[in-house]
Amino acid sequence: MTAEMHTKQKVIIKKDEIPPMSMVEYYFPAQKPRERKPVLVVNYKGSFFAIDAFCSHAGLSLEEGFLTEDGRVVCPWHGSVFDVRTGKVVDGPAERDLRTYRVEVKGDEVIVYE
Ligand code: FES
Repeated sequence: MTAEMHTKQKVIIKKDEIPPMSMVEYYFPAQKPRERKPVLVVNYKGSFFAIDAFCSHAGLSLEEGFLTEDGRVVCPWHGSVFDVRTGKVVDGPAERDLRTYRVEVKGDEVIVYE
């Protein structure tokens, strides 16, 4: 039996790059540029979360959307709404939840694991 090795990647970000109530898109490192995968890192009232950076409706970037006071990310393109903590669709047209990523805060760094 052959086991395929896949090393999980991580992104390390300085906390102050993401002020409270903001969202910034980052990329996991990859061998080939086409394989780079974006993740949206969100500072929701001082807690950090990471979800897919592209909306599950039409695959457009969520970074230009906005974060609501109750922790929802609103897609700027057609208005889908996702819970930033769970990635779940709160309102359509999107029907598929977003993936969430494990986040760790160490000192002044935020580490997001693929
Ligand atoms: S691309 Fe986000 S709602 Fe359509």
